[in-house]
Amino acid sequence: MSSFWNIWIWVLTLGCLAGCFIILRYCLKNFAGVEEGESMGHSFDGIEELNNPLPKWWSNFFLATIIWALFYIAWFGLGAWTGISGWRSSNQGILNIAESKAKTAEYLAKDSGVLVQYDREIARANEKYGPIFDAYAARSIEDLATDAEALKVGQRLFIQNCAQCHGSDARGTTGFPNLADKDWLYGGTPEQIKETIMHGRQAVGMMAWEDALGGEQGVKDVAAYVISLSGRSVNADLAKAGKAKFGICAGCHGSDGQGSLALGLPMGAPNLSDNVWLYGGSKRAIEESIKYGRAGVMPPWSNILGEEKVHVISAYVYSLSQD
Ligand code: HEC
Ligand code: HEC
Repeated sequence: MSSFWNIWIWVLTLGCLAGCFIILRYCLKNFAGVEEGESMGHSFDGIEELNNPLPKWWSNFFLATIIWALFYIAWFGLGAWTGISGWRSSNQGILNIAESKAKTAEYLAKDSGVLVQYDREIARANEKYGPIFDAYAARSIEDLATDAEALKVGQRLFIQNCAQCHGSDARGTTGFPNLADKDWLYGGTPEQIKETIMHGRQAVGMMAWEDALGGEQGVKDVAAYVISLSGRSVNADLAKAGKAKFGICAGCHGSDGQGSLALGLPMGAPNLSDNVWLYGGSKRAIEESIKYGRAGVMPPWSNILGEEKVHVISAYVYSLSQD
């Protein structure tokens, strides 16, 4: 922190406290020129104003909060000063999780007690829950998926970390896949699910196809063909024209639109023939997917949660699509 901001914080904070104290003292003075409890000489509709002082309990309480503030500042610090306790809310100057972990390890090794509160809480939680996660990590995902306790832990981790995108019931929404069905972009085996969560996934190559398809009409033709793949009725002429152009899509989606997973490619191109839609199955949504392209990103979690926790979440996700 620059010394300007340090001084700024000190002046503002102490100035406010001093200001409160001065106002309180001023308000406790009898400056009305009449005895306490006597009439001020004002009467409103028969209600008379008396010169009453501030209640003692109230003004004393106010004073106590000012004194409390001084002790609080002395203990927790102000501006760049960390106070008597040496408390800090964050590791200042640390920019990523790797640096934070290194710093924490360094503090722990020195046993110097200068851990920031967050690190202290994480270290304490790791001590308490670490052995539980280690025990889970030693078991297979299929095995954990039948263990009600482990699934509860996995579900809680899921709700905290994944629900904002995939929904609290893991059923997803537009652009965020449903994890509770048997339809997968990147595979539904325990290993594939864990790989997805550990390292993230990025949908590859679904660019805007309008130009390559020869414009608006090309998009309409191919969309009609795509819709026909899941057995819905479409204009047969459009679908026929679309089928002729589908060759450029087949490299990723397969010649029958069966998806890249069926081709053994981990690129996330969805099955287009099962009437399950990541971005919506209406004619308009499908035309937009083709016209503008799509590029979903599943973030990686290995750095944030660590492998043990990902292992347990994987078991939870895996369990959702087992009957
Ligand atoms: C910021 C949003 C976001 C968060 C948070 C998120 N995901 Fe995802 N996830 C996605 C997107 C988007 C995809 C689809 C990527 C694509 O379009 O190819 C995805 C894909 C997946 C898949 C692959 C589904 C399939 O059909 O193969 C799994 C499994 C998954 N996420 C699990 C998780 C878990 C578990 C968590 C929490 C640890 C999580 N996700 C957190 C956005 C998110
Ligand atoms: C280079 C590989 C690639 C090619 C070629 C490709 N796609 Fe895709 N397509 C993808 C991927 C990957 C996604 C998923 C995008 C995401 O998850 O964000 C996708 C998504 C889609 C979707 C959305 C599906 C849903 O469930 O909402 C449609 C529709 C689609 N593609 C149609 C086509 C058509 C039609 C063509 C040919 C003109 C085509 N794609 C060519 C890779 C490809």
